[in-house]
Amino acid sequence: MGSHRRIVVLTGAGISAESGVATFRGPDGLWEGHRVEDVATPEAFARNPALVQAFYDARRARLAEVAPNAAHLALGRLDAAWPGELLIVTQNVDDLHERGGARRLLHMHGELKSAWCTACGTRHRWEGPLRHNPPCPACGAQRLRPDIVWFGEMPYAMDRILHALGQCDLFIAIGTSGQVYPAAGFVETAREVGAHTVELNLDRSAMSNRFHERRLGPAGTLVPALVEELLA
Ligand code: APR
Repeated sequence: MGSHRRIVVLTGAGISAESGVATFRGPDGLWEGHRVEDVATPEAFARNPALVQAFYDARRARLAEVAPNAAHLALGRLDAAWPGELLIVTQNVDDLHERGGARRLLHMHGELKSAWCTACGTRHRWEGPLRHNPPCPACGAQRLRPDIVWFGEMPYAMDRILHALGQCDLFIAIGTSGQVYPAAGFVETAREVGAHTVELNLDRSAMSNRFHERRLGPAGTLVPALVEELLA
């Protein structure tokens, strides 16, 4: 492990599960009681903005009740100590990577703690609720939406992510079901440039057979062990 220099880490909902944040694809196929298409699409927001805002307001408020777990903290340690290139790409919209010390981090699906004004385009750090339509601090319009990449929208920072994948020699995916593109395709991009690929997940995912190496178990145990190997 220690011979690698340029690492890309992809994380999904599974890394936050042990912190008490619900994953998307639970056994019942519902996301905290809702069908994904009722809360996580632009059409859902156009149809029922109050429902969608209340849903994300609840997720945002919940962040105050959860804390980074051993997996987030281990990646924070890796970020601080790793002398080579590193990019941590998360599909998660929580702030647990930041609170775990990660700095070389991209939120490809947006962030709960960001609000995006659909009138002037400005993004604002946001802690409170949006369901009462507060005015945009920049332009005053009452058209703030959660700064979340919904189904059918383009993920953020794809140019930086593809650049890092094109140069990496180690690709690690943690706690993601491999069902949502483009993230599910990152393992192929990394393989094309000859990177070693490792999956850490509780169960086998849709992409498991595409990885050179698989480790099954909870992220809170597997990630600290992998980080120790990398830093040894
Ligand atoms: N440790 C490791 N892996 C875990 C743990 C755990 N403690 N708990 C669950 N997992 C695994 C599950 O086995 C599953 O494979 O994490 C994965 C979570 O999968 P999803 O819920 O599908 O989450 P994710 O892959 O991040 O979803 C991708 O889909 O709904 C959209 O935009 C949303 O970013 C999200 C994207």
